[in-house]
Amino acid sequence: MKTENHDNLIVAGIHLIELALSEDLGEGDPTSSSIFTEGEVTTAYIRAKKPGVIAGLPIAQEVFSRVDPNIIFTPLVDEGQPVITGEKVAQIKGRVMSLLSAERVALNFLQRMSGIATITAVYVDAVSCSDARILDTRKTCPGHRILDKYAVRMGGGTNHRMNLAEMALVKDNHIDSVGGIRQAVEKIRAFSANLPIEIEVRTLSELHEALSLEPPIDRILLDNMNCHTLRQAVAINNSRVILEASGNVGLENIGEIAAAGVDYISVGQITHSAEALDLSMKVDTQQTENVQKRKMIEHIRTNKRRLGKKAVILAHHYQRDEIVELGDFRGDSLELVRSAEKTDAEYIVFCGVRFMAETAAILARNGQRVLLPEQGAGCYLADTATEDDVRKAWSLLSEYFADIEKEITPITYVNSSATLKAFCGSHGGYVCTSANASRVLRKTLDEKPRAFFFPDQHLGRNTAADLGIMDSEILVWNCHYLPSPADIQKTRVILWPGACNVHKRFQPEHIDIIRKKLPDVKIIVHPECIRSVVQLADETGSTSAIIKRVNESPPGIRWAIGTETRLVKRLQRENPDKTIVSLAPVAPYCPTMSYTTLTSLGRVLEGLVEDHLHNEVKVDSEIATNARLALERMLSL
Ligand code: 13P
Ligand code: SF4
Repeated sequence: MKTENHDNLIVAGIHLIELALSEDLGEGDPTSSSIFTEGEVTTAYIRAKKPGVIAGLPIAQEVFSRVDPNIIFTPLVDEGQPVITGEKVAQIKGRVMSLLSAERVALNFLQRMSGIATITAVYVDAVSCSDARILDTRKTCPGHRILDKYAVRMGGGTNHRMNLAEMALVKDNHIDSVGGIRQAVEKIRAFSANLPIEIEVRTLSELHEALSLEPPIDRILLDNMNCHTLRQAVAINNSRVILEASGNVGLENIGEIAAAGVDYISVGQITHSAEALDLSMKVDTQQTENVQKRKMIEHIRTNKRRLGKKAVILAHHYQRDEIVELGDFRGDSLELVRSAEKTDAEYIVFCGVRFMAETAAILARNGQRVLLPEQGAGCYLADTATEDDVRKAWSLLSEYFADIEKEITPITYVNSSATLKAFCGSHGGYVCTSANASRVLRKTLDEKPRAFFFPDQHLGRNTAADLGIMDSEILVWNCHYLPSPADIQKTRVILWPGACNVHKRFQPEHIDIIRKKLPDVKIIVHPECIRSVVQLADETGSTSAIIKRVNESPPGIRWAIGTETRLVKRLQRENPDKTIVSLAPVAPYCPTMSYTTLTSLGRVLEGLVEDHLHNEVKVDSEIATNARLALERMLSL
């Protein structure tokens, strides 16, 4: 299992584990003792009964080994990995009686911690489009502080102070008792000169007071402010002190709070009200599992043979290993679309996400049909820009100019819906990929003064910066906060505020940590990562560029890679003479890329054998015609 060091977690968990086991085991388990014999051994699996993010496997493992040190516990997913319903999380082998004795306590820890990781990931995804990060609070289950906060990290969140001693947090009660912010800070500095200080402010005048302190304090907590006031606070602060928003935060308003521009948002709910993730343990035999998997693979291969040249399976690099192995072609999104274009196959089974299958359908020849094994396999980034929202932005932008068509070229990253590609096609715009974004942006800026780039703000910003465009010439579109005409006049690139919830997880501190751990490491990241990560990395590359760079590098080299984890792990397996690790301690997986399973692929092939099309991806002909224009403009560069 690859994540952070678990020693501290286990030390913190030991007495909780002992307490929980003594509470549950009592005088023994008469039910199991009367049914099973002492020496009977078996294999069991823990499975997810709902989708979620896993956290707490080291604690579950410790529970089993405390009950019976001979139990072999094998995690089947990483800490922090998203799982789908039915997915196996761990395999446990040993005496049946021991397994059943430990089951409840192990699951109680695992379910609670995975529940926290799951809700944290939901909040982290909800602010992906901004730079804001999700913080926990001290509203943890008594005694479980270290476990709860660990689970927050597994969900992609950031820990606030672990306890009162770590940082001074000056709240209304302190301020009111001592007579003001300045007085409170003076007393704390006199008591402990180096203690980091955070001040809670309730109004903008308190904010001014907190900002006037010298030396500056470490952080300001904006308590219970509405979004309008938060935006004013961000403007007043002007990046001087780290800002945290807190109070009345829920999923319904967190997007708007994040868009106000704060650095952190603390959310009590992720620890005090997390719903446990539904997990269960079922006794099984490994043989049955392997036999079932082998049968499924064999069934898919037989159906592939039956279909012959009629069907081709395309698998993206982020797919599960068993799917990649069954693919006729493995590639990044553009390579796969190109193989789809070249093939004579009637059926293109696209194991990837919807925008890729749609792009293949747009470029498909007459009579070719594209199938996506999992209907729900979307792309979080693509979903951040709906056609309605982009059209609304375009119409608002057109009010700044006499003729917008002469002023702005729309560019859509290929990770977008067919309708947005069509929008670009019909407004003289382009599609781009991460491999050719520079070429496309340069071309559009040669043609017109400005580009409107969607949906990925980070790819847009990184590409613009590479072309020498200054920060002051880049504007992130915020429908809650429209730019002034003067701002628009000096802007060369308008960015949609979208982001990929996988690549957004890589943070500058990960680079510091990995460089300390592996001093000679080379860091390569995908351009969907945030600007500060790209600036600190040694190299940036699209999916295909990362693969080429790593494969062609000399033996013995050490790489830390900032991209999707299944690809990073495969690169490590295929390059055993190199050290290849994820840049992040909690390696991020693309959840929707994991949706495609042997079952869903098998169902599509079975259907084709019976002349039945499961999950065909169709694009309306007018949309396809316009989208093709934008794609062809890109391909002609
Ligand atoms: P590629 O175009 O590099 O395959 O990337 C697609 C993607 O989804 C990156 O996150
Ligand atoms: Fe979309 Fe990000 Fe997944 Fe790529 S990794 S498919 S951009 S969500």
